[in-house]
Amino acid sequence: MANVVVVGAQWGDEGKGKIVDWLSERADVIARFQGGHNAGHTLVIDGEVYKLHALPSGVVRGGKLSVIGNGVVLDPWHLVSEIETLRAQGVEISPETLMIAENTPLILPIHGELDRARESQNSVAKIGTTGRGIGPAYEDKVGRRVVRVADLADPATLELRVDRALIHHDALRRGLGLESVDREALLASLAEVAPAILEYAAPVWKVMTEARKAGKRILFEGAQGALLDIDFGTYPFVTSSNVIAGQAATGVGVGPGTIDFVLGIVKAYTTRVGEGPFPTELHDDDGQRLGERGHEFGTTTGRKRRCGWFDACLVRQTCATSGVNGISLTKLDVLDGFERLKICVGYELDGETLDYLPTAADQQARCTPVYEEMPGWSESTEGARSWADLPANAIKYVRRVEELIDCPVALLSTSPEREDTILVRDPFAD
Ligand code: IMP
Repeated sequence: MANVVVVGAQWGDEGKGKIVDWLSERADVIARFQGGHNAGHTLVIDGEVYKLHALPSGVVRGGKLSVIGNGVVLDPWHLVSEIETLRAQGVEISPETLMIAENTPLILPIHGELDRARESQNSVAKIGTTGRGIGPAYEDKVGRRVVRVADLADPATLELRVDRALIHHDALRRGLGLESVDREALLASLAEVAPAILEYAAPVWKVMTEARKAGKRILFEGAQGALLDIDFGTYPFVTSSNVIAGQAATGVGVGPGTIDFVLGIVKAYTTRVGEGPFPTELHDDDGQRLGERGHEFGTTTGRKRRCGWFDACLVRQTCATSGVNGISLTKLDVLDGFERLKICVGYELDGETLDYLPTAADQQARCTPVYEEMPGWSESTEGARSWADLPANAIKYVRRVEELIDCPVALLSTSPEREDTILVRDPFAD
């Protein structure tokens, strides 16, 4: 029985929602292990559209256990409203189907305020974040001053934790010209939301261990993408958590041996939201066309995504850092109708050719992509369900991608519909 980790292998928005939903139908437990409500997954099931940000995709499927692991940062007020919205759509959510790790750090309103204040005040510091307080909450976790789910159960502990956080935050806020925090209002607000969160609190590490022993299939649902990883992404234009597959284990409290298969989700071209380097970014009609055909607007912030050619060099890198066993290639149909396609196979830097993106920011800025050109195809690949449905040039493109990233295709997704998927290798069958 295999346990599968799904990670984005680019800058997020690779189309994980559909694949995670497809896999979650076959899983018993679906666990989020990092990130927060900066993520956005849209699921379309029997014509009904579900928008998920903090909750694992498994919640919309009956009979599954959904888990929010300690690697996540959780905004309790947001979670309550997300649960209410889903309930209004007929989704049943109960402590039997949703568990939240007791050691999960909470995102408080002060984190969002800090995030937005930093983003708006100083163009040098601007990351282009989602403004949801993700970074400041992770900072407080590592700074040992965050409020965690378990703290909600005891008012005295909660006060202590809040005071510990406020010593730091009030000092910061003074520097940023923000009013000091209204301690009493914050405590009252936390006391009010506490019961709705504590209902789901559980020792997730233990639940996961038991699930594993009972031979349950576990799906670890990643958010964002490996190029936004705090260590291996395009720092500092990254999110504040480890996004790569290794985080799946620490983010819920199981050993690394629990992971049998890592599925990397890879879009057939490249997009990114927010600031930061993007070697294959296009500012021409081709880029415009990718954005329009691919509906490249953020699910969480509605921002227009930057678009560019497929960067095989970067994906080879992310497949390595996450130990990807197979990829799911998505949105191939967006490339339909391009006469010629370009794939980045390396970078030129100071007269040398590199087969990876260097870490130093000045070097990254000087790198120019080395492209390989391939003929496009005029036929539609939208909705293809077998290799036989694909034009020869589309198959050549996919095969070349596999070669260049040094990783095979396990799934090919050809439209947002779940049935429009070509299965090459079932990740759960490993
Ligand atoms: P933060 O995670 O809100 O701190 O944002 C940091 C960077 O990650 C920004 O460039 C965001 O646009 C990007 N980001 C965060 N979450 C997502 C996501 O789910 N998809 C794509 N980009 C994301």
